[in-house]
Amino acid sequence: MQANSECRYFVREYELNDGQILKINQNEIGDVGCVVWDAAIVLSKYIESQSFKNILTLDGSNILEIGAGTGLCGIVSSCLGAQTTITDLPQFQNLINKNINENKHLIKGKAKFQVLEWGKDLELFKKDEFQCILMSDCIYYDESLEPLLTTLNQLCSRDTKIFCSFERRDTEHKKRLEKEFFKALGKDFKFYTIPISEQDKVYSCDDIVILVVEKKQ
Ligand SMILES: C[S@@+](CC[C@H](N)C(=O)[O-])C[C@H]1O[C@@H](n2cnc3c(N)ncnc32)[C@H](O)[C@@H]1O
Repeated sequence: MQANSECRYFVREYELNDGQILKINQNEIGDVGCVVWDAAIVLSKYIESQSFKNILTLDGSNILEIGAGTGLCGIVSSCLGAQTTITDLPQFQNLINKNINENKHLIKGKAKFQVLEWGKDLELFKKDEFQCILMSDCIYYDESLEPLLTTLNQLCSRDTKIFCSFERRDTEHKKRLEKEFFKALGKDFKFYTIPISEQDKVYSCDDIVILVVEKKQ
């Protein structure tokens, strides 16, 4: 099923660290990306705290979110001053544009939607166009593992930082998927886990992992 304009919406509020409230529309019916996943909240809060501590400079940076779903992480980044391109499959265009438009009074940088299907659309962006790539809960589909890796390889230079969050799941299938993804990722990329002590104190938990991923030198 698709996230289209005929779907009914329900709102998830996200409180920015300055107390302002983002209203993120979710679709009642649709594919998994139609709702905000916990991994997106954990990653957004981490990005906010890093930006607040001046460890991550978002103001004026070009940020790409892939597999964005509702677009939360990208919208949060644009509220911190980033020039953000928020991407997903074409059926997410209405939902993400709605979320960008309805939160535009809080956006200090820029946010725009663009279709990016992993493994395709490879000529869309230049290799070093983005300083950061955000991906939350994208290690989810058997059929998308290879295309996702192709896209990451295409988009990343040695200076690109990928912030990747995902929820550890108990099923044998998801465990295998995770293992396969990280084995394949390790061929061209190095990565490390952000310890929970460096994450947001409230919006963090053992089941949700944040990794920083970079191209091997
Ligand atoms: C589990 S959802 C996570 C959504 C959002 N990042 C979050 O954490 O709330 C995975 C997202 O990946 C997107 N996706 C899956 N396969 C894709 C592909 N081949 N190309 C682009 N996006 C894809 C889905 O449309 C969906 O929005």
